[in-house]
Amino acid sequence: MVGMGMIFDETYRPFFETVARRGLFDRQFGDLDVHLVAVASRTGHRAEKYQNQSRGLIPAFRSYSGDDAVAQMLQEKPTFACVATPDNRHFEASKAILEAGVHLLVEKPSVLSLQEVDELIALARKNGVLARVVYHKLLDPDHKKLRTLVADNILQHVNNGYCSLLEPRQISGSQFSEWITGRNPGTYVAVHYIKLIDFTFGGRLKTVMCTGQRGLVGPADGPTWDSCQLRLIYEYADGREAAFDIHTSWVTPDNFPGYVEQEVQFRFDNGIWNGHSRKRGVELTVENMTPLKMKNTINNHYNGAFLEPWGERSQRGYGIEVLERFAREVAFVEHGGDAAERTTRLNHIRSLGYADLSADRQVVAAVEAMERILAAQAAGDPDRVARFDGQTIQLC
Ligand SMILES: NC(=O)c1ccc[n+]([C@@H]2O[C@H](COP(=O)([O-])OP(=O)(O)OC[C@H]3O[C@@H](n4cnc5c(N)ncnc54)[C@H](O)[C@@H]3O)[C@@H](O)[C@H]2O)c1
Repeated sequence: MVGMGMIFDETYRPFFETVARRGLFDRQFGDLDVHLVAVASRTGHRAEKYQNQSRGLIPAFRSYSGDDAVAQMLQEKPTFACVATPDNRHFEASKAILEAGVHLLVEKPSVLSLQEVDELIALARKNGVLARVVYHKLLDPDHKKLRTLVADNILQHVNNGYCSLLEPRQISGSQFSEWITGRNPGTYVAVHYIKLIDFTFGGRLKTVMCTGQRGLVGPADGPTWDSCQLRLIYEYADGREAAFDIHTSWVTPDNFPGYVEQEVQFRFDNGIWNGHSRKRGVELTVENMTPLKMKNTINNHYNGAFLEPWGERSQRGYGIEVLERFAREVAFVEHGGDAAERTTRLNHIRSLGYADLSADRQVVAAVEAMERILAAQAAGDPDRVARFDGQTIQLC
């Protein structure tokens, strides 16, 4: 595990604790142990704290910190490694992992440029390993239903849509303060919906526009963004187009009723899909707790701690399911049949584009375009438009 921050605690920790207890079983690959053997982080403080907290829950693991941490972690020869460092520090760790011939799972956004993603895709091919990225929203039952209706042609030809994803101020103010300078909420969260659009509707990304506002997280003329508005234009095989607007922020007041405000609307030739991930039916009020210590609207589908009807305590949801799915994919490649058939199994998992880096190029292109347009705006050259031809991005 590279990076032991918020997302480690929310999703990887419960995954490793559950799999340590239960193992991983499938008829195709049998009964396997999955242990967290080593972690790499900047300071090692949170790893040390977790080492103490997790005694009795998972076997002891080795912790490495500092500049050489990833290389030292790889000396432990893990079967797979997960990267959950800040967005602009994914590439180096991912490259080192693939170079070591270790399967990779990297948090979204995979990387910030096409050159980086192409390098990682080539390395994974050369070394015969998986390179995959976590997009848990594709496993959200609502988004699965959307995709099913599109795949079954019940919803026909998307024309346009909007998505909004608003994070609380604490994300930019305290959670990410170490690495917030020069960053924007678009890359951090819009990427979830870029992937949803790209994966669900297909098509060719051709144009990216973006603007944003500054002045709260950093100076009004600096490189750090409070909110972003992104527009993507896609073209489909029949020549028709669709446009999508994605609005993001990480300065929403902390006393907001939910953890994250998430809303989408997609308009089709014959229908409309309206989704609101925060308002799925539960509204909770507890004196002196909501909305600061606990939220009024809770997403019990993403990740929740539960007392199961049979008395067991659990933590589950699609945010954790996506990690288990990756472990199962690795298990299938390594243990799902004859060694002689490994390449066939590897290619099969690679063809599952929901998570493979080779199917993430358009998403990375949108992210790179957004980053470049915002950098140009910060340098006094606003309102640029990016055009993508499938290979390179041109700023006009
Ligand atoms: N799947 C999701 O919905 C989701 C949600 C939140 C965050 N994320 C992604 O997860 C990643 C981490 O986010 P977070 O919220 O956990 O951040 P965080 O700031 O809480 O934690 C980052 C961790 O990375 C470590 N780190 C920093 N630089 C490092 C380096 N060079 N080498 C090794 N370790 C290093 C830090 O020590 C820290 O443990 C980001 O890419 C973010 O976009 C994904």
